[in-house]
Amino acid sequence: MFTQIGAKPESDFSEPLGMLSDCHKRIQYFLRDLVRLSEEATQLDPAQRVALERALRYFRESGPRHTADEEESLFPRLRAMKDERLNEAFVKIEELEADHKRANEAHSAVDAIGVRWLADKAIDAEAAARLKAQLQKLSEIYEHHLAVEDSEIFPTAAALLSADDKAELGREMATRRGLSADIVKAALH
Ligand SMILES: [Fe+2]
Ligand SMILES: [Fe+2]
Repeated sequence: MFTQIGAKPESDFSEPLGMLSDCHKRIQYFLRDLVRLSEEATQLDPAQRVALERALRYFRESGPRHTADEEESLFPRLRAMKDERLNEAFVKIEELEADHKRANEAHSAVDAIGVRWLADKAIDAEAAARLKAQLQKLSEIYEHHLAVEDSEIFPTAAALLSADDKAELGREMATRRGLSADIVKAALH
């Protein structure tokens, strides 16, 4: 689904910053899918139902892990460096954390409407309008947010974090996904 011929292969746990950017592609993919469904459907056909379930599950399960990768593993490591070259990044990181909060609220609203849609097999005009408004809000948040992370925060982290810090970041991300130390070790070699 995400593999394109000639495209750069996805990163593994030995390239945790690349993995974070790969996650952004998935966020964009599933958000686009939700927008498409909200515009196309009121009664879900089987394919739309599967797509809605998948997108909701992604944002319920994988999305929070990505946020935790940033808020609990990446940002604290950058803050701990107390490096003046990071002063601008520290301001951006605070804004990114505020975005995460706003996005989480919008995701919760989308999830509640989506779950109801699946259960009722139809969505009324009022709920559809609320869904579109929340998705519009998410699209606006992510357009700026992902660009700041991809073009400013991750390259800065790639340049300034030590190899040990990056390895530890990859290990924490793997552990967060329930992967064993052996798999992580294999990826790191
Ligand atoms: Fe983020
Ligand atoms: Fe991110």
